[in-house]
Amino acid sequence: MSAPAYKIRPAEPEDAAGIAEVHGASWDESYRGLLPDEVIDAQLAPDGFRKRWRERLTGPTGSPARTLVAVAEDAGESRLVGFVSAGPSRDGDTGCPGEIWALYLVRKYQGLGIGRALWNAGVAELAQRGLLPGQVVVLAKNPTLDFYRHVGGVEIARAPCRHEWAGHLEEVSLRFEA
Ligand SMILES: CC(C)(COP(=O)(O)OP(=O)(O)OC[C@H]1O[C@@H](n2cnc3c(N)ncnc32)[C@H](O)[C@@H]1OP(=O)(O)O)[C@@H](O)C(=O)NCCC(=O)NCCS
Repeated sequence: MSAPAYKIRPAEPEDAAGIAEVHGASWDESYRGLLPDEVIDAQLAPDGFRKRWRERLTGPTGSPARTLVAVAEDAGESRLVGFVSAGPSRDGDTGCPGEIWALYLVRKYQGLGIGRALWNAGVAELAQRGLLPGQVVVLAKNPTLDFYRHVGGVEIARAPCRHEWAGHLEEVSLRFEA
C-alpha cells in the first residue's frame, strides 16, 4: 500500500467514536496472545472504549492528556486511523514530567510513517507544555517496544505492569527527549 494522504489534528469531542474504534481494533490486533482473552474481551465490550473516550473528550474538567488524531484519505473518504495521547506522567518518580499515554494505529495503516508522525506530534505537544523529558510505558512482550527504541526511547525501568488486569506481566519504561 502506498502512503495515503493524511493529516494530524487535535481530537474533537465528535472524534470519540472514531478513536474508540481505532483503540478497540488495535487492542484486538495487537494484544491477542499477549494478554488473557478475558481481559481483551472486557475492554472490547460494547461501549467500553467509546464511553471512556466520550468522557475523556467531553468531561467537565477534561483529561490532562491532549489527544491528537491521524485522519487518512482512503478511497476519497476521510477516516480516523490512529491517535496519540500525551500529557503529564502518571508515574511521579521517574524524573520525566511528561508521558505518551497511548499511541495506536490500525494495522492496515502501519508501516507507512504515520506512527512516527503521531509520535512526533505527541512529543511536540509535551515540549510545548514544558513536559519533557517524557516517558512511554510498554509491555515488555509487545513488539512495538523496538519502535519506541527506534524513535529515541531509552530504557529506564522494568517492573510488573501497573494495571492489575495485566496479570503482572512485565512493563518497560523508556525515556525520551525532543
Ligand atoms: C507502534 C506503531 C504506532 C508504529 O507505527 P507505524 O506507522 O507502523 O510506524 P512507522 O511506519 O511510522 O515507522 C517509523 C519507523 O519505525 C520503525 N518501526 C516501526 N515499527 C517498528 C517495530 N515494531 N520495531 C522496530 N522498528 C519499527 C520503522 O521501520 C520506521 O523506521 P525508519 O523511519 O527509520 O524507516 C504501530 O505499529 C502500532 O500502532 N502498533 C500497534 C499498537 C500498539 O501496540 N501500540 C503501542 C501500545 S503501547
